[in-house]
Amino acid sequence: KLPTPFQVPLPIPPVKKPTRSDAKADYYRVVQQKASLEILPGLKTEVMGYDGLLPGPTFDVRSGRTTVVEQVNQLDVSTVVHLHGGHTPAPSDGWPLDLIMPANGQHGGHHMSGGDMTMGKRTYTYPNTQRAATLWYHDHTMDYTAPQVYRGLFGLHIIRDDKEENLPLPKGDREIPLVIADRAFDADGSFLYPAAKDGPGVESAYMEGVVADVTLVNGAPWPVHEVDAVRYRFRILNAANARRYELAFDKGPAKFVQIGSDGGLLDKPVEHKTLVIAPAERFDVIVDFSQYQPGDEVTVVNKLDNNSGVLRFKIARKAPDDTSIPATLSSYAVTPRPAGVVRREWRFRRGDAGGHRGWTINGKAFDPAVMQAQVKLDQYEIWSFVTDVHHPVHVHLAPFQVLTRGGSNKLSAYDHGWKDTVDIRPAEVVEVLVKFSAHKGKYLIHCHNLEHEDMAMMAAFETI
Ligand code: C2O
Ligand code: CU
Repeated sequence: KLPTPFQVPLPIPPVKKPTRSDAKADYYRVVQQKASLEILPGLKTEVMGYDGLLPGPTFDVRSGRTTVVEQVNQLDVSTVVHLHGGHTPAPSDGWPLDLIMPANGQHGGHHMSGGDMTMGKRTYTYPNTQRAATLWYHDHTMDYTAPQVYRGLFGLHIIRDDKEENLPLPKGDREIPLVIADRAFDADGSFLYPAAKDGPGVESAYMEGVVADVTLVNGAPWPVHEVDAVRYRFRILNAANARRYELAFDKGPAKFVQIGSDGGLLDKPVEHKTLVIAPAERFDVIVDFSQYQPGDEVTVVNKLDNNSGVLRFKIARKAPDDTSIPATLSSYAVTPRPAGVVRREWRFRRGDAGGHRGWTINGKAFDPAVMQAQVKLDQYEIWSFVTDVHHPVHVHLAPFQVLTRGGSNKLSAYDHGWKDTVDIRPAEVVEVLVKFSAHKGKYLIHCHNLEHEDMAMMAAFETI
């Protein structure tokens, strides 16, 4: 029996405290562990979480200061940590075979080799040499990313800088992360996940991806949050394995004014009545509640699921508001089509290859030993993503700008700014402009439908 929506208060994931800091870096220690959490009222759910939390603690860091995280694995499975959206040197990027083996020495069913394995813990170094943006970190273990993220291994990593902080945007408790993810529960409160009986991946009925009937926001089912009748900033992350959302307010006049995307602030704000958000995408938005009266309620619904509720806001009181949304948020160079640019095509299709059931890129299942491209640093490239069905395509290391969609310069309303994940609709072609810099090594491009990813829709490339 599912709980009544809009009863549980919206939790805010705690900000992680460094164990020490020096002139250039902040040092942290995170323990990946099982924990029994009350997610559904009155029931216990066993999660695997960073510090035993779901979502994990939020890293709140400064652009240009290095974050060093010692990740300790006290689980009974191997893990890998990836900072999604991070401009990260390859040894810390979370290559899917750079496993942190469980401290207790058991394999937990992951019989894999070939990467840089460590026993019990691993230290990741994130230089944060990038502009302010909402990043997230999550598990990236070869073949088992989907079930391990599903059980809780995900959290936010927010980078801040002076430029953004000098804008008159809402801050403090009026700046709220909303991490949305769907989960299914058994009657006893445990997570339900349709893992294949015979190895990685899911039961064949779930090849398209696992979608579930309970919507969690910051780990709480259909929560409710009290707000003042003022502007708020919401950093929205779709952390679902496979579900896309089209978020809308059930009654006006609220709308979403987008100020940022995956890679930080847009150049200027963009208004949306509804917000389509695919797995792994982030939308940084301002919502103005000033036209509501104390006592009003406004519910965010998902139009792609029969207007089912996601979370509710209760307007508590009128309050002063000295924030505004500047007409110019940031500036960055847009280079539409540099001459003589290298082009590559990445075709995302269903198919079986290399002994893997499932999904392929350019006709191949993921093979960590094969580099599908050698990409020169500091050169623009135009990459085209070609799909059969919906695939949210993600590239590690560098953000990109969407150039064309469906053969036209008319982009979708959600393509603005610097992206690292782009929602490609069925039978569509999207071209993006990308340039990698600073770090040589092995990186990934993959579908961020996590079931597709685990079923081999991933390719490696090497930056040289
Ligand atoms: Cu969000 Cu390769 O991952
Ligand atoms: Cu996909």
